[in-house]
Amino acid sequence: MTGQTDTGCPTLIQWQPYYSVGNRYLDNQHRQIISLVNRTYQSILLGEEKETLRTVMRRLVDYVDHHFHDEEILMQKHDFPGLESHRAEHSRLTKDTHDLQRACLQDDSPSAQEVLSFLKQWFLTHVIGDDKQYASYLSEDEVPVEVSASAPKAEAFSTAEVLERFRKEQEDPTDDE
Ligand SMILES: [Fe+2]
Repeated sequence: MTGQTDTGCPTLIQWQPYYSVGNRYLDNQHRQIISLVNRTYQSILLGEEKETLRTVMRRLVDYVDHHFHDEEILMQKHDFPGLESHRAEHSRLTKDTHDLQRACLQDDSPSAQEVLSFLKQWFLTHVIGDDKQYASYLSEDEVPVEVSASAPKAEAFSTAEVLERFRKEQEDPTDDE
């Protein structure tokens, strides 16, 4: 699953078609999370300044919070029976992400290998282990109705950008990664 971007930067996770949960909006959010996970991984590997890492991880944590919120809106809308256990898992993953963020900013921060293992397992647990369960309840093209009100503050990977990409993909479904 590890690889390289076009610019030669190492990647921890690469999007795979079987990651799809059957909803384009949430698939795009998962792609954005992969980008942020890879950027975090690269920042640690490159030994970038703590302030850069702090910004990158803040963006990841904010985006994950936002994504979980959107998922819960859609699961609730469709009376997904596993909503409460999924919410509990979101809480656990949120805590793990915040803990990792804190650990990476301390002097005795975890090694790149530890971060690699954590983030990869974290992502696969969330998408493959949990999100696949709601896939059959959602239609391909719907979006969470409260999405504009829950937009993250981060400059990049904003809800507007995700929606723009979502619309673009609808216009040209072959334009994929
Ligand atoms: Fe998800």
